[in-house]
Amino acid sequence: MAASTDVFSKTRGHEREALVDAAREAGLFPYFRTVESPASPVVEMEGAPRIMLASNNYLGLTGDERVVAGAEEALRRYGTGLTGSRLLNGTTPLHLQLERELAEWMGTEDALVFTTGHQANLGTLGTLLDAGDTVIVDSADHASILDGALLSRAKLRPFRHNRLEKLEKALARAREDGGGTLVVVDGVFSMEGDVAPLLDIAELCAAHGARLMVDEAHGAGVLGANGVGACELLGVADRVDLRMGTFSKSLASCGGFVAGPAEVIDYLRISSRAFLFTASAVPAALGAALAALRIIRSEEGPALLTGVLENARHLAAGLRDIGYRTIAPAPVRIATTPAAAGEPAALSITTPIVPIFVGDDWKAGLLWRMLYDRGVFTNCALHPAVPPGGALLRTSVMATHDDETLDRALEAFALVKRRFEAEHGPLPGPAGEAAHGPLPGPAGEAAHEPLPGPAGEAAHEPLPGPAGEAAAG
Ligand SMILES: Cc1ncc(COP(=O)(O)O)c(C=O)c1O
Repeated sequence: MAASTDVFSKTRGHEREALVDAAREAGLFPYFRTVESPASPVVEMEGAPRIMLASNNYLGLTGDERVVAGAEEALRRYGTGLTGSRLLNGTTPLHLQLERELAEWMGTEDALVFTTGHQANLGTLGTLLDAGDTVIVDSADHASILDGALLSRAKLRPFRHNRLEKLEKALARAREDGGGTLVVVDGVFSMEGDVAPLLDIAELCAAHGARLMVDEAHGAGVLGANGVGACELLGVADRVDLRMGTFSKSLASCGGFVAGPAEVIDYLRISSRAFLFTASAVPAALGAALAALRIIRSEEGPALLTGVLENARHLAAGLRDIGYRTIAPAPVRIATTPAAAGEPAALSITTPIVPIFVGDDWKAGLLWRMLYDRGVFTNCALHPAVPPGGALLRTSVMATHDDETLDRALEAFALVKRRFEAEHGPLPGPAGEAAHGPLPGPAGEAAHEPLPGPAGEAAHEPLPGPAGEAAAG
C-alpha cells in the first residue's frame, strides 16, 4: 500500500513560511502585534504609546462608559457565558431586545443576531443558497462572503471590483443557467474604503430578477443620516433584500446580524447551521452592542457620525498634502437627491477608511515599520487582502481622534516619507491618483484572492460551472 500523505506536511516549508520568517527577522512583520490598552485614539502597544490608525472602533464607543455599563449589567445579570446555542439554551431577553432594535434601525421586518459577523455571512449564504443557484460576488468582498458562498455550493461568479458591465454579464449568464441568483457586495469595502455603486447594482439585480444582499460591516454606524449604512446613504435600503452587519466595528462589541423580511429571517432562525450549532455570544458582548446602538440612535448619534467622517477628510487631505497616494473614492449615484434634477446625483463618499497605496509588499512592510517606530500604528494590507502588487497601508479614524492627535500622526507621516525615500527610493505620489475601482496592480489583475473558479479549483467539491471559465470576469 502506498504511504499516505501526511496532512500536516503542508505546514512545513510552505511558500509563505520563508517570507514570514524573513519579515520577522527584519522586524517587518506587521501582524499579531499586541495592544495593551483599550482601542482608543492613542494606545499602548509593545511598551510605547502609538497613535491608533488601525482600529474599526469608528465611533470610539468601546470605552464609552455607557457601553461599558451595558456590558457590565449584562454580565451581572446573565453571567459570563451562556454555554449553549441560541436554539437550546442561549437565547436571552437581551438577544430579543437587540434584534427588535436592530430591525427598527434597519427598517426591516426582523433581524437575527449571530455570534460573529463572519458567522452571519456564513450562516445566511450557506443556508439560503443551494447547489442549483448562482451567487455573484465582487472580487473585493470580505472573505466571510466568499466562505459562505463556497459553503453553499452554489455556482460562484465573481466580478472584478465595482465593474458593473462584468456584473451585468454575470447576471445574464446566471439567468441562462437557471436556479436563483443572489448578488452579494460589501456596502463599504473593508480595505479600499470605497462605497459600492449600490443604486446601479440594485437596478441591475431588478432587471435580471436577482436578489441583492449588502454587507454593512463598515457602513452601519458610519454612513447615512441615521448611521444605518451605505444603503441608507445611497437611498436604496428598500431595494436591497438583505443587509448584514457586525458589532465588531462601530457597535463596539463582537457579534453580527442579518436584517430583512420576517419569513427569510425566520427560516434562518431554524435552518442556519452557523447560527444553530455554535454557542451564543457572551452576554457582555450583547449588552455592549445594545448600548452602542442606542447611542448611535440617540440625539448624540449625528455628531459622532459627522465627527468620524470629518476626521477621515482631515487625515486624507493631510496625507495627500505630504505627497502620499491615497485612494480617492469614485463618485457613486445616490437615489434620493436631488429629486428635481431627474438624474440621481453622483457623490464621492468619504468613509473612515483612508488607504495609502504603496504597491510593493516589501516597501509596505518597511513603511509600516518606520511609522510604527515613530508612534503611529497602521494596518499593512498585502495580497490576498488586496490585488497582487496593490499593497497598501490601511489607515482608519475614530470620531474620538482630535485634530492635535491626527496632526501629530501627519508629522510622523511626513518625517517617515522623507527618510523612507532617502533610503529606499520614491513612494507612489498623489499624481495620477485615479478614482478607485480596481486598485493599481499588474495589468489584467482581477480578483483579490485567487477565487475558486468552476473548474478544478474548488476547496470542497468542484463547483458547478462551465469548465475553463476564468475565476473572475
Ligand atoms: C466587510 C466585512 N464583513 C464581515 C466581517 C466579519 O465580521 P466579524 O469580525 O464580526 O466576524 C468583517 C470583519 O472584518 C468585514 O470587514
